[in-house]
Amino acid sequence: MSVLLQCHRLVHSMGSKPLFNDLDLTINARDRVGLVGHNGSGKSTLLSILNGQLNPDGGDISRSGDLLLETVEQFIDSRLNERTLFEALHEKLPAEEQDFNEFKVTMMLQQMGFNETEFRFKVADLSGGQQNRLMFARAVISNPTLILFDEPTNHLDLQTLLFFEDLLTSLDTAYLLVSHDRHFLDAVTERTVFLRDHRVYSFSLPYSEASIRLNEHDDAAQAMRKVEEKKIRELRASAKRLAIWGKVYDNEKLARKAKNMEKRVERLEGDKTFVTSGSGLKLTLDVKNVQANRMLQIDDRQILSPGLDPKPLFYIDNLFIRPGDRVALLGHNGVGKTTLIKLIMERFETDSAGDFIKFNPQCDIGYYDQELELLNPNRSMTQTLEDNCNTGDYKAALIKAGFPYLDLDKKVAVLSGGEKARLMFLLIKLNHPNFLVLGEPTNHIDIKGKEDLESQILESNATILITSHDRRFVDIIADRFILIDQHELRELNDPQTFYDLDRTTVAIQETPAVDTIQAPLEDEDILTRIVELETMLAEDQARKSKFQKPKLQLKWAREWRELNDQL
Ligand SMILES: Nc1ncnc2c1ncn2[C@@H]1O[C@H](COP(=O)(O)OP(=O)(O)OP(=O)(O)O)[C@@H](O)[C@H]1O
Ligand SMILES: [Mg+2]
Repeated sequence: MSVLLQCHRLVHSMGSKPLFNDLDLTINARDRVGLVGHNGSGKSTLLSILNGQLNPDGGDISRSGDLLLETVEQFIDSRLNERTLFEALHEKLPAEEQDFNEFKVTMMLQQMGFNETEFRFKVADLSGGQQNRLMFARAVISNPTLILFDEPTNHLDLQTLLFFEDLLTSLDTAYLLVSHDRHFLDAVTERTVFLRDHRVYSFSLPYSEASIRLNEHDDAAQAMRKVEEKKIRELRASAKRLAIWGKVYDNEKLARKAKNMEKRVERLEGDKTFVTSGSGLKLTLDVKNVQANRMLQIDDRQILSPGLDPKPLFYIDNLFIRPGDRVALLGHNGVGKTTLIKLIMERFETDSAGDFIKFNPQCDIGYYDQELELLNPNRSMTQTLEDNCNTGDYKAALIKAGFPYLDLDKKVAVLSGGEKARLMFLLIKLNHPNFLVLGEPTNHIDIKGKEDLESQILESNATILITSHDRRFVDIIADRFILIDQHELRELNDPQTFYDLDRTTVAIQETPAVDTIQAPLEDEDILTRIVELETMLAEDQARKSKFQKPKLQLKWAREWRELNDQL
């Protein structure tokens, strides 16, 4: 097993916060490593040190001659925005291949599920999921030996996520990926490195098994520490008694014995088993209950896309949410989930009787927006709470949530992704809502935070409406599932139907046959084809369900969406 990269006794601090102390880490060829850690523990910082963007305060890093390293950042580099999809990938070919290896670019884009029409699209115009595919292709095309990924699944819809799982597991390249998604980690990694207490704990196991082992290790350390502390207490008491006797009886032998015992206590204190201090961050909610029949009702309505030229997105056939309902809103990127949530919030803020969205008069929404736009990067944590909450001792609340006193005046801009998300949850808590509307609440939050959030939601009997691509979170939290698909909002009995839909769609996208890559169509041809597809879809949907062809329906619907986009 050849070693690609090795860190020895790394030491590093950010601001007043020590992050690593004597951290050792080795990555071998073909390793598939998950890097897991609490928010703010320094994972993103460690990636910057590994790829050479940041110099550590101390320690050594050795890189093998075979190391060819690529990093996939969480967001696409804005310098690529004006390039076409093809150009953005072509520029990543090694210099000596740029002139004659264009077919490699074409092949890789096709493998990533793009068609030739899309090759000419500007990067800025690609959807979030498509940009993620491009970033992945840019990392892979130069045949690196190691790829570093920083939270690659945040913002991905389930369909793109499953696509990545399949691609990652087919790679020969070693990778280290930071993620808080337990399901994803289990699917694509074989080793788990926990970054904690300024050092790493490494297990040759995927996340779930590794975390059981880490818990066992912690339990054993706690038990050992208890025994040691008992022993220390006993020895200390004996030393004290001997010292008193030595004095009372003027006995030098007893006094010497007491001194030796005290020295032993000191040695034992120094050698005590290390017990983890944990993250220190706490995520709590304060959700009120409402006694009523309905919390929210949306009448039959065609929902339109926002903007100057609104287009029909989907149709709602009367939706209502009762107090205590935990509703997951499912659907692919771009179907209109965020539009619906934003519409609800907009109507809530301008609540008027007789509107097509009706709120219970007691309804008080705590809104977590996916982009965390409410947080102003130039304000400090304390100022953010002052700006957005009515009353409270904000400093005490921040300290209770686990933020160190020295950090309270830290600007939002320098917070890690998870620290920002936690600040937003604290802001919601301080406003005591009775209905939580949460857009992708688990992006950025570490695994412990997600578990806190899960138990807080379940214990509080909260009414919630969430969008989330974290399957495990959806499965645990939600008791109602509504899906936006094929321009309709409908209720499902369980989310599996939606996950199955994803697998089928991915399978269709993964093998683009050469003859399905079409030359650009004229507007008139597009319209003809749209009508043709609509007829085929309507005819097939009109059949009895056992005679329908769901896979073909998906394929037609996808083509229909693409053609509509082209128009
Ligand atoms: N310029 C800075 N000044 C002060 N502190 C900083 C600065 N940049 C980062 N930090 C702090 O360093 C710590 C580590 O940040 P980092 O982004 O590496 O965390 P992380 O483990 O990636 O967290 P997350 O899981 O939330 O992404 C955080 O507490 C962050 O607030
Ligand atoms: Mg990070």
